[in-house]
Parts: sequence; C-alpha cells; structure tokens
Amino acid sequence: MAERLDGTVALVTGASSGIGEAAARQLAELGAEVVVVARRKERLEKLAADIKAAGGKAHVIAADIRRQKEAISVVEQTVKFCGRLDTLVNNAGVMLLGNIQDADTAEWEEMIDINLKALLYMSHAALPHLLKAAENSPRKVVDLINISSVAGRRARVGAGVYNATKFGVVAITESLRQEVTSRHVRVSVVEPGVVATELTTRMKPEVAEKNMKPFAGITELQPEDIADIISFIVTRPWRSAINEVLVRPTEQAF
Ligand SMILES: NC(=O)c1ccc[n+]([C@@H]2O[C@H](COP(=O)([O-])OP(=O)(O)OC[C@H]3O[C@@H](n4cnc5c(N)ncnc54)[C@H](OP(=O)(O)O)[C@@H]3O)[C@@H](O)[C@H]2O)c1
Repeated sequence: MAERLDGTVALVTGASSGIGEAAARQLAELGAEVVVVARRKERLEKLAADIKAAGGKAHVIAADIRRQKEAISVVEQTVKFCGRLDTLVNNAGVMLLGNIQDADTAEWEEMIDINLKALLYMSHAALPHLLKAAENSPRKVVDLINISSVAGRRARVGAGVYNATKFGVVAITESLRQEVTSRHVRVSVVEPGVVATELTTRMKPEVAEKNMKPFAGITELQPEDIADIISFIVTRPWRSAINEVLVRPTEQAF
C-alpha cells in the first residue's frame, strides 16, 4: 500500500523541466515539502508557485551543481530551510550525442560533469542528512533515487560518452546501495527509454535527427510516467526497496 510523504523533505535536481519537474509536482502532491534545483530560476519559480497554489510546499534553489561548492550549498540550504532531508532525486542531466571520432570534447566534459560528478557531489553532501533522517523518521526509511537510462544498460553507436555516464550511474547506485541499505537508506536507479522532454533540444537539430532516428515514430513516454515510478519507489513501506526500474515506451524495441 502506498504511504504518504507528509512531514518529509524531498530535493529534486533538474526540476526546471521534464522528468524532474513532473517528479517535484507528484512528490509535493504526496505531501513532501519539495526543494527544486536547476539553473533556470524563472522556471523553478513558476513550478514552486504552481505547487503552492495546489496547497503544497516548495522552495527554489538556482544552482549549477557541476560545481561541488554549489552542490554542497544546495544541501545545506535545504536542511536550513526545511530542517531535514528524506528524499534525494538525482535527475539533472544532459545528453549530447555524436560519434567519438571528431567529437567536440567539451560536450564529453559537460556530460561527465553533470551526469556523473554532480550526482556524486549531491549524494556525498546529502548522505549525512539522509542517514540522520533514516534514524529519526517515523517512516523508518529514506530514499536516494538516481535517474540513469536505457542508455545505462545498452550502448549504441553515437551515444558512447552518454552511455558511459549512464552505465556509471548504474554502477554508483549499486555500490552505494550496498553501502547504506542496512541503515535504511534505499538507493534506487530508474532507467527510462525515450521520454518527451527538452533533453534532445540541447543538440544541434541535425545531430539530434541523425542520432534519434532509431526512435522516430514511436509514442514516447511522458515525464509523468517516470514521476509515477519515482512516486511508487518512495511510497513503499520501509521493508520494501525497489532497487532498479527499466521502463521503455511500449513501441521502443531497443
Ligand atoms: N528524456 C529522455 O528520453 C530520457 C531518457 C532516459 C533518461 N533521461 C534522463 O532523465 C534526466 C532528466 O532529463 P529530461 O529528459 O527531463 O530532460 P530535460 O527536460 O532537459 O531536463 C534536464 C534537467 O537537468 C537540469 N540541468 C542540466 N544541467 C544542469 C546543471 N549544470 N546544474 C543543474 N541542473 C542542470 C536542467 O535544468 P537547467 O538547464 O535549468 O539547469 C533540466 O532541469 C536526465 O538525467 C536524462 O539523462 C531522459
């Protein structure tokens, strides 16, 4: 049976659009006080206003979490505003596809910095607070959820470095899960297939068209479909940990 999240605090990175935005809305509907993080402050403020108008609680922190100092500050501000931290959704990420030969290597740096290093900085800064909340929570459990991808399970041409970051997220999740699960910190990974978000808009249109061709014509998942899974994970009773969810659009074969 699903539990409500009243009295808990959830921090969602990459909440200015797509999956993070949908997850923040749902977690707030479930009763969590949410802290929404990304660089585009106006988007976050609109989201927080919507959540508050619907009767929820929301705080905005604009930050570039590729910088460790900013990631630490996000967690410190969260605990200062809200007094605790029960749920961390490491969702912020970019996908800059293309072959390795002739790549713009600055794109590799960006993917590694946000998809991997920022996720590690956020987790590292949050863990002391998550462990503390796990000890004193009436729910007896807290959650750290990492968003990987089908690209974290299956490599393909034109996605090598994105694949590497998302395979890395799967590895970090499993290692951290073994480290803290006995202390009631559930660590989960969600691996979506194609979701209709702004993710592909960061690429040049011709690069996106070429590399997204295998998925042309399928009915994509919606951000709310992934938010549903995040909500499912965090609302299980403490004894039940959903370690990994791989979810594709029905029409996506690979
Ligand atoms: N869409 C898909 O098909 C799909 C499939 C599998 C996995 N995923 C994963 O899902 C996650 C969310 O992506 P999405 O599809 O929802 O795309 P999206 O709409 O582009 O969202 C990406 C989010 O990451 C944030 N972000 C990027 N760089 C950041 C930085 N340096 N500091 C803080 N926030 C940053 C963006 O906010 P700002 O630009 O405002 O900072 C935005 O809120 C990503 O990890 C992605 O790899 C997506």
